[in-house]
Amino acid sequence: MSQHYQHDVLVIGSGAAGLTLALTLPEHLRIGVLSKGNLANGSTFWAQGGVAAVLDDTDTVESHVEDTLNSGAGLCREDAVRFTVEHSREAIQWLIEQGVPFTRDDETAREDGGFEFHLTREGGHSHRRIIHAADATGAAIFKALLDQARARHNIELLEQRVAVDLITERKLGQSGQRCLGAYVLNRNTGEVDTYAARFVILATGGAAKVYLYTSNPDGACGDGIAMAWRAGCRVGNLEFNQFHPTCLYHPKAKSFLVTEALRGEGALLRLPNGDRFMQRFDARAELAPRDIVARAIDHEMKRLGVDCVYLDISHKDANFIKSHFPTVYERCLEFGIDITREPIPVVPAAHYTCGGVVVDQHGHTDVPGLYAIGETSFTGLHGANRMASNSLLECFVYARSAAADITAQLEQISMPGRLPTWDASQVTDSDEDVIIAHNWDELRRFMWDYVGIVRTNKRLQRAQHRVRLLLDEIDEFYSNYRVSRDLIELRNLAQVAELMIISAMQRKESRGLHYTLDYPEQLAEAKDTILQPRLGAN
Ligand code: FUM
Repeated sequence: MSQHYQHDVLVIGSGAAGLTLALTLPEHLRIGVLSKGNLANGSTFWAQGGVAAVLDDTDTVESHVEDTLNSGAGLCREDAVRFTVEHSREAIQWLIEQGVPFTRDDETAREDGGFEFHLTREGGHSHRRIIHAADATGAAIFKALLDQARARHNIELLEQRVAVDLITERKLGQSGQRCLGAYVLNRNTGEVDTYAARFVILATGGAAKVYLYTSNPDGACGDGIAMAWRAGCRVGNLEFNQFHPTCLYHPKAKSFLVTEALRGEGALLRLPNGDRFMQRFDARAELAPRDIVARAIDHEMKRLGVDCVYLDISHKDANFIKSHFPTVYERCLEFGIDITREPIPVVPAAHYTCGGVVVDQHGHTDVPGLYAIGETSFTGLHGANRMASNSLLECFVYARSAAADITAQLEQISMPGRLPTWDASQVTDSDEDVIIAHNWDELRRFMWDYVGIVRTNKRLQRAQHRVRLLLDEIDEFYSNYRVSRDLIELRNLAQVAELMIISAMQRKESRGLHYTLDYPEQLAEAKDTILQPRLGAN
């Protein structure tokens, strides 16, 4: 039988943003944190690079702001950039207090006898400003935050819980607009439970799984973006999908990223004949922003008809490579590639959703009581191309800001009354799951082919036509059969895919990550693409 639960704060998503918010709220609040699978299955755990922050005495807020604005190709909101960067040092301090074991720089003993943390570089940054835990920063942060959350009596960590949809006053036919909770599939029981909450937080990550090739874990399905849209929130800049330039190219390696920090420490991109090529595309060569590097690789692969290019760090000291990049070294070795002696075959793959649910500096969405943080949100920080390692920073800064905002409102917001139970009376068990599997594959393939690194009007029109057919089929399936994780994710992914295609069609220029052969030039005026749902349509 389905259950009813109540939490002061319901956090959908258990990555860096969700856990940071839960840990920053007052301890007297009852907080539920939902994870679709196991807690460690999210993107945070996979992050290799690090967190960008102004930590070195020779670095400045102005410089970090300027680099971010440059990477964002004229589309960042300067107030969001400044807000994020100005809070970077205190966010890192908080992480250190939570026990995150950032790599120390034992080469530069400080005058006071202490040690500095090691700062690395990545594309677009004019300074060394990426604090990291070797090349497994996300895992180190996640473990530290999870340990803290497990030690807190007020935080309930709930695995195998897949949010189906948000419950709002509007959807219940009431006069207000507030978000009151969510319907959540418990994969252990197969029931859809009802969660009521005073505040609901979407921290579900991005939607890179919409593409056939991605660096992301399986859960990156744009769930929060789709749910927010159906609840009446605006979304912004969803045409800007970041492709990471260097994912391992090997038939057996699924989604393995080769961190940009390799290039920060001197790795070179080479063609199959050993020639370097990045200097032909940008004076910053291998350390140009990601959109430029990914497009250059795509161009060279198509020009030469080759399956991959190569990333070469073998000229560096082997001990340095093994100590700074143990994860990449070990993983590549499993596939027979010794990175201390030979170049790594690499290709670009979908990595990060720069757009998302429109929010302000506190993570407020358009629906009262509903917040979005981390990759789910569109804060204006990333513009048309996110600068490396700014995303984890955004998670911490905005999660802490949202927590402060919720804390300030506690007195005024009470628990919603009893919410209606999920109605499963009209549905039956599906006898044709092959349709779901087929639609998953079809969606991800046409998004890769038609809405990828290089776009055209024709390709976008084809993609739009196909996504509409899929959405109709999925709707029918959703109305008639019991929900499953696969169906919920497919529904969300197709919804977000359509929003990405519409956004891409609206942009009549090439800017940052959105490159189209039909409008190769950048317009003089930079404008966000904001989509507004038609209320009552969902
Ligand atoms: O290359 C990387 O390690 C990725 C960093 C990022 O996406 O910020």
